[in-house]
Amino acid sequence: MKNLYLIGFMGAGKSTIAWTLAKKCPAKRIEMDQLIEEQQGMAIKDIFAAHGENYFRDLETELLRSFSESTGYVVSCGGGSVLRDENAALMKENGCIVFLRATPETIYERVKDSTNRPILNGNMNVEYIRELMEKRRPRYEAVADICVDTDGKDVENISEEILKAVENRA
Ligand code: S3P
Repeated sequence: MKNLYLIGFMGAGKSTIAWTLAKKCPAKRIEMDQLIEEQQGMAIKDIFAAHGENYFRDLETELLRSFSESTGYVVSCGGGSVLRDENAALMKENGCIVFLRATPETIYERVKDSTNRPILNGNMNVEYIRELMEKRRPRYEAVADICVDTDGKDVENISEEILKAVENRA
């Protein structure tokens, strides 16, 4: 298997689904945010505060490049990582991109208590999430090989749906 890249808005369930998929496949799991935090020895919010968003985006590109030749990974991607053409190209070349969709209300419920998502700092409300999601949605949809609606479904169903869709593409 090549790599599976899970993309989508913050709180779409990428990390949770990546855990389950990695067990089912089986595959190795990569959590981009977590790896970047480990490599930098800093929380995402502190990287943004100290160096700015562009620096963080460079780290995402570097990380994606570092395992782009490897296979057998399920990658939980940072919600903004696919916005750069270079990153989307790296994902496309090396695997299948799965877009996890959820409504702004669902997203809000999942992220409302998070203090480590600087993009939502000071804007933790459904309206802001809806607006940013609408801005990003065309991009997510354009790069995705597979789109999966997650509202009202459990992790098991979502994971099986993804695996079936991947098989059907093969
Ligand atoms: C971001 C999403 C976050 C993290 C960073 C920026 C974004 O990842 O990479 O805070 O721009 O959407 P999650 O999608 O895992 O929360």
